[in-house]
Amino acid sequence: MLTTCLAFVLVVCACVYTAEAALGDTCTIEANCTNVTNADCLDGKNGSKTCQCKAPQFKKVMMICKEVMGSSCTVATAATECTVPYSDCQNNATCSCKTSYFKKTSMCVEGIGAPCTDNANCSNVVNAVCSSSKCGCKPFYRNAGVDSCTKVLDSTCTATENCSSVANSICTTGSCKCKSMYKAMTDHCMPVLDSQCTAPENCSSVAHSTCLDGICKCMSMYKPMDDHCMVSSAGVLSVGIVAMATCFIALLMGQKTQGRC
Ligand SMILES: *[C@@H]1O[C@H](CO)[C@@H](O)[C@H](O)[C@H]1NC(C)=O
Ligand SMILES: *[C@@H]1O[C@H](CO)[C@@H](O)[C@H](O)[C@H]1NC(C)=O
Ligand SMILES: *[C@@H]1O[C@H](CO)[C@@H](O)[C@H](O)[C@H]1NC(C)=O
Ligand SMILES: *[C@@H]1O[C@H](CO)[C@@H](O)[C@H](O)[C@H]1NC(C)=O
Ligand SMILES: *[C@@H]1O[C@H](CO)[C@@H](O)[C@H](O)[C@H]1NC(C)=O
Ligand SMILES: *[C@@H]1O[C@H](CO)[C@@H](O)[C@H](O)[C@H]1NC(C)=O
Ligand SMILES: *[C@@H]1O[C@H](CO)[C@@H](O)[C@H](O)[C@H]1NC(C)=O
Repeated sequence: MLTTCLAFVLVVCACVYTAEAALGDTCTIEANCTNVTNADCLDGKNGSKTCQCKAPQFKKVMMICKEVMGSSCTVATAATECTVPYSDCQNNATCSCKTSYFKKTSMCVEGIGAPCTDNANCSNVVNAVCSSSKCGCKPFYRNAGVDSCTKVLDSTCTATENCSSVANSICTTGSCKCKSMYKAMTDHCMPVLDSQCTAPENCSSVAHSTCLDGICKCMSMYKPMDDHCMVSSAGVLSVGIVAMATCFIALLMGQKTQGRC
């Protein structure tokens, strides 16, 4: 009897001392509400702050904060039920994000096709940009649903026109690849040695090459080896001669240099 009684007292004491904050409890700082899931310390009705559901993503249902997105609604009462911006009552049944928006951390954010004024508006979709006042995939990427842009190179295709947004790519064995004489650089195709170019940067996939007479060629002192440009033996020799000559002149002029010839 005594042990039961003691146990009872212990349990009660334990309960009192570890009593967790609940919705509606007063608070002074955010940390006071950390044990109330999805609640923040917000201004209460009569001046004092209380732990309340984070708005507009959550609403109080019974004594817990329930996510608004996905909760049931009717079209008639959507304005008060679907409180998250860019959401509405879809199928007269569920709070969902409007077309061109998608759910992220209990909110609705801009997806492909959403109106925008700058790239930051579209930053919830990786590789999306604001183009013609709408969020779209950046060059060399294609729309793969409201919330994603996928790289065209290496994506599946059935015809070369599926790859047309990447210049010099073709559909080969079911995926977009750079055609011969071109090399994939991240998301697009760059000419390799001996292919056509209009500017030196077209040849930048091959170190020490440049655009000469409309063709990617190795720079002087370099010569093509397989697909890249190697210092030619003549180049090595002339570089060596220049270095030795410089040293010799320095010695002749009696300059004290840090290095040695
Ligand atoms: C809130 O937290 C602070 C710091 O831990 C504490 O001093 C204060 O008593 C708490 N207030 C409430 C109402 O729990
Ligand atoms: C939150 O709960 C933990 C474990 O129950 C407790 O140790 C902590 O003091 C509580 N914090 C607040 C602010 O109520
Ligand atoms: C308003 O304040 C009174 C007394 O300070 C308190 O008992 C009551 O719970 C508060 N109401 C709300 C909604 O915070
Ligand atoms: C929406 O559903 C409610 C019942 O859940 C029904 O009364 C109402 O007529 C429906 N509205 C529309 C536009 O379908
Ligand atoms: C785009 O973002 C800017 C800055 O955050 C904001 O002022 C503007 O309203 C946004 N535009 C749209 C269409 O969401
Ligand atoms: C490829 O293009 C064809 C013809 O334009 C189209 O029917 C098909 O859906 C496209 N496939 C992909 C994966 O984009
Ligand atoms: C070559 O570079 C120019 C200038 O950057 C660019 O306009 C052109 O599309 C490039 N051509 C190829 C084949 O990559």
